[in-house]
Formats: sequence, C-alpha cells, structure tokens
Amino acid sequence: MDKLVIHGGKPLSGEVETSGSKNAALALMAAALLPASGKTVIHRVPDLRDVHTLANLLRIIGARVDYEDHTLTISAANVSHFEAPYELVKKMRASIYVLGPLLGRFGRARVSLPGGCAFGPRPVDLHIEAMKQLGASIELDEGYIVAKAKRKRLVGTKIAFPLVSVGATGNALMAAVLAKGTTKITNAAIEPEITALARLLVKMGAKIDGIGTPTLEIEGVDELYAVREHNISDRIEAATLLAAAAITHGSITLTHVNANDMKAVLKKFESAGCHITIGADCISLQAPDVLRPTHVEAKPYPKFPTDMQAQWSALMTQAQGTSRITDHVYFERFKHIPELNRLGAEIELKKNRAIVRGVKTLRGAKVMSTDLRASASLILGGLAAKGKTEVLRVYHLDRGYEHIEQKLRKLGAHIRREQYDEFSTPSPPDEE
Ligand code: UD1
Repeated sequence: MDKLVIHGGKPLSGEVETSGSKNAALALMAAALLPASGKTVIHRVPDLRDVHTLANLLRIIGARVDYEDHTLTISAANVSHFEAPYELVKKMRASIYVLGPLLGRFGRARVSLPGGCAFGPRPVDLHIEAMKQLGASIELDEGYIVAKAKRKRLVGTKIAFPLVSVGATGNALMAAVLAKGTTKITNAAIEPEITALARLLVKMGAKIDGIGTPTLEIEGVDELYAVREHNISDRIEAATLLAAAAITHGSITLTHVNANDMKAVLKKFESAGCHITIGADCISLQAPDVLRPTHVEAKPYPKFPTDMQAQWSALMTQAQGTSRITDHVYFERFKHIPELNRLGAEIELKKNRAIVRGVKTLRGAKVMSTDLRASASLILGGLAAKGKTEVLRVYHLDRGYEHIEQKLRKLGAHIRREQYDEFSTPSPPDEE
C-alpha cells in the first residue's frame, strides 16, 4: 500500500496546472452510452482510479473504451449487457450514473445498489423515484435495482426533487433526453458538472432548456449523436491546491482553471485574508502572514461545496481564532477531525459542525486517510506541520487527485510517495 511522507513548513510557490474535473468526467462518460453509433471523444479526462473504474464498467456493459493521453474514446454501438455489477458499484457509487442512459436508450437496466459510504448514509431513492416518474417499473432483486421502461421507451414527465442531488439530476437528465415527450425537472442541481453534462447532451442533439438553472425542460428526441467534448476544470482540486498555498503562507498560480465555478470558495479565501487575483484562465493566491478565522456552511452549488469542507477545516487550524464549519449536505462527513487532532489541531465536533480553534503549530504524526477529501485535508495538515507526517492509505486520494504529490512537489513541497505493509484489512473505499 502507498503512503505519503511529508516534511512540512515549506511555503509553496510557483505555477501548476489544474486537471480536468473528476465528477464532470464521470457524468460525461456515462452520457457516452446514449449515442447508438459513432465515437464520443472526451478530452482532458484526468488519469484517476474513479475514471478507470467507470471505464471498466462501460466495457463490461459492452462499450469500447480507449484512454490515451487524457482523451477517452467511447463507442457504445455494441452495448449488449445492461448490468452494473456490485463489484464495481461498491468501489464507486457514481457507477449509478449508468442507470439513466441505459434505461433511456434500451428501456432496461440492472444496477447494483451502492450500499454504505464512508461519510454516512447515502441513499439513491431520488434516482429511483425519478426513473419511476419517467415510466420505469423498478424492482429490487438481490441487492440490484432492476428497471424496465413499462412501454419500452420512457415517457416525459414532471420531476420535482425534494432536495438537490447532483447524481439524481444527472441520471434524470440522461434518461429524459431520449424519452417520448417533455420532461420538466425542478429543484435540479446546478453544479458546474451538471451544466457540463447538459451541454454535452445538447451537442449530441438533445433539446434542453434552462441549463445552469434549477428548472430544466427536456424535449425528448429519437436519437443522439456521438460528438467530441472538452471536460471542464476540477474546481475542487483547484481549491485544494489554493488551500495548500494558504496553509503554508505561500503564493501560487493555478492555470487551466475556471474562477467562475469557484466564486463561493474564492470569497472565503479572501475573507481568510488571502489575496486572490483572477486572470483569463488562471487564479493566483498570496497568503497573508496570519489567516483570519472564517466560517463556512457547505451547501449545494453555488454555495460552498461539501467536497471542500474537510480541507477548509485543515486550513482553519492555522487561523488566529475560532471558525465554524458546517456541512448541510453530508451531516457525518467528519472522519478527518480525529486525524487532524492527531496533528495537534483543536477541533470539536457538534453534530454537523466542526468548531476549529486555531493553533500556533501542528506537529507531524502518522495519520490515516478515511475518504478522498479527508485525505486531502490531512495532506494540508502535513504541509503546515512541523516535522514528518505520514498519510497512510492514500488509495483514497488516488481516486480523485491526479498526481497530487507531483503537483505539490513542483510547488516546492517536501512530499514523497512510499510503499508500506499494512497488516490489517483495508477499510472499504470511500464513495464520493
Ligand atoms: C456528488 C459528487 C460528490 C459531492 C456530492 C454533493 C459525483 C460523482 N459526486 O455526489 O463529490 O460530494 O455530489 O455535492 O459527482 N441524497 C438522497 N437520496 C438520493 C440521492 C442523494 O437523499 O437518492 C442526498 C445525499 O445523501 C446527500 C444529498 O442528497 O445528503 C446530496 O447528494 P448528491 O448531490 O446526490 O451527491 P452525489 O451525486 O452522490
């Protein structure tokens, strides 16, 4: 197993490129199942474990998938198997993204229920309800969702989501584009990754109004066409790298990044005293001598993202004063707190709120990754800490950060990857 060994205390400086978005790539890949012929080409797909997991799932379903130099080429002409097996879905719950396109194009799908998650309960009831609304019969069979379009083809409908769900919005959208008639989705997620998905679908020939708003109107079409698309930047990776600069009192520039997708986060960096400069496709951050405590409330986009909450907790350990970090999306996403406290942080958890009292110094220690963003928060802690920090079980990190240690090294961090033996059984992977 791999671990990251960090010698902290070095201010980061320099320039680094942002990767393509993990979450957008996964949605775009699932959408590539929709065209009945041709090759969908997606550029700027990050080289990540989650991407390879979904690529394997698409291959199992019968698609041809090639990945080279950050470009994915997917041909779904010969899809013949409509099942997402438990073995893959348990590794990554975004596998449920194949439900909508399979049902929309073929009128049938069998997708394993994802099961538990490292940061609390994560049901898929909204996905299932949306498919039912579109005219699918759903049965649960030995842990699988067995979905069939009652009249072979889905039928347009009204879907009013009771809460904002990125995945359920994506699935509903991918199912509705080939349904007969018009579908109206209200309370849709407006995350940039969903907007990217909707744009790809339109390029493929779908008719969608209201892109980027919580109300989407989709007029079903008979066929979609394979196209070429460029993936968007990873706003969470970008924000994590900015936090790495801020926590080390550094000054860095990110390139290939879209500041428009990151307004809430950038505003918080400014509230914390960081100087932010935005260019055409770049963002620079210069850290202050002393960080100001800054409260955040993680909520659906355009608010502060839950995927950045753990990293913000790490950053605020170095602020002068107390910060409150509340997660309204995942109430139990706080597995990083005891680990950050092992580095000398003073964080108390009250329900879905972390109360972070800034400390003068963090001290290196061995800490354990429990999920993707928790791992990122521990790296931030390690970068700020005096002495040596070892972040164990970094396989979580490899799901969602492309070559992060190389990027951090380029910015001057003392960080290296090493192998180690772990005798205990690894905890199940997280499922962001
Ligand atoms: C996506 C992102 C993940 C991010 C999350 C919230 C991907 C691959 N993953 O996950 O990184 O943390 O959005 O921004 O894009 N919920 C239900 N029933 C459902 C579905 C969701 O109750 O059927 C709840 C969830 O438990 C959660 C909230 O809705 O409390 C939002 O979850 P959702 O937006 O669906 O997250 P994902 O799409 O799984």
